[in-house]
Amino acid sequence: MRVSKEELNKLIKNKLQKAGLQEEHAAVAADVLEHADLRGIHSHGAMRVEYYAERIAKGGINTNPAYKFEKTGPSTAVFDGDNGVGHFMADKAMDEAINMAKENGVAVVGVKKMSHSGALSYFVQKAANEKMIGISLCQSDPMVVPFGGAEAYYGTNPIAFAAPSKTGKNIIVDMATTVQAWGKILHARSKNESIPDNWAVDKNGEPTTDPFNVQALLPIAGPKGYGLMMMVDILSGVLLGLPFGKNVSSMYEDLTAYRNLGQLHIVINPEFFTSMEGFLENITTTMDDLNNIKPAAGFDKVLYPGQPNDIQQEKYEQDGIEIVDDIYEYLVSDVIHNNAYDHKDPFAE
Ligand code: NAI
Repeated sequence: MRVSKEELNKLIKNKLQKAGLQEEHAAVAADVLEHADLRGIHSHGAMRVEYYAERIAKGGINTNPAYKFEKTGPSTAVFDGDNGVGHFMADKAMDEAINMAKENGVAVVGVKKMSHSGALSYFVQKAANEKMIGISLCQSDPMVVPFGGAEAYYGTNPIAFAAPSKTGKNIIVDMATTVQAWGKILHARSKNESIPDNWAVDKNGEPTTDPFNVQALLPIAGPKGYGLMMMVDILSGVLLGLPFGKNVSSMYEDLTAYRNLGQLHIVINPEFFTSMEGFLENITTTMDDLNNIKPAAGFDKVLYPGQPNDIQQEKYEQDGIEIVDDIYEYLVSDVIHNNAYDHKDPFAE
């Protein structure tokens, strides 16, 4: 079913407030979730609302956090989210980082003690909309084998990067460091389809094509993706004195417990490195050059990272956002949650 972005935002905000979030926090969370659905990142949109609502209602997200921003140097800061809702904390911290980079050229802001913050493109896009380069990294719960391992250690630890152009369009790279998201395995299960053998492993660490045998996901490009997810864990966990690696808290294990997650924002002001005008011009050239590369067989056009999401956004803005019927019914209902998530195995349906 199709809904306007305004209606979707209102429904999400309303549900999160009913679950216990204060209005200001629910509003930002709704903006981040709307952003994800609008850009076709449905794995991190309205689909997640019931999970958040259950965690909020059960006390696993602090609804009255005493969050604190502490500048630790001219270009560095730590934002303690006191385990409030991750979207709001990451958003506040990004606003601070943008202001610091405007003044000092660069900002590195760690966000510690937060819950899941959703699609990271939301935060880096804010930096790009202010003519800055934005980078954001965060930890997530262990479900990926390190290269050569038969046990999960790291999360799907995403990396996001955005750079502005002179046209107002941004390049946005936003990706998990696993070959595929867990949602794609669930999708294969629901359709009783096999999966390619480079997505995941079974309980012995052997590649599997049976989605029902999956015990852990595989990093992108073997040891290289493994190195990247380790880098993300060090920068958004170890650096901030938080639990790291296999000790990162689980998404579902205990919905009454705070997650204590970390995220790191880096904002770079091009003006401190080159002329702003030249920079924006050259990013525009990068986008145009890529679009004008001769496409390979089976492709109509080479797109720059983030462009498929821009195209989706344009369509959804015109026609409404496609939302699964069950999710819409949940959003318009009076139900806060159905106890569907507590103690759920990360590899269960
Ligand atoms: P994806 O595989 O859908 O896209 C990855 C990147 O590839 C995007 O930048 C996209 O624009 C680009 N792309 C896709 N097709 C393209 C094409 N044909 N040409 C050029 N570029 C193309 O993303 P993935 O890895 O499934 O991640 C989805 C979301 O999950 C992200 O928003 C990420 O931040 C979020 N995430 C959040 C986590 C958290 O704990 N907060 C954990 C893991 C992921």
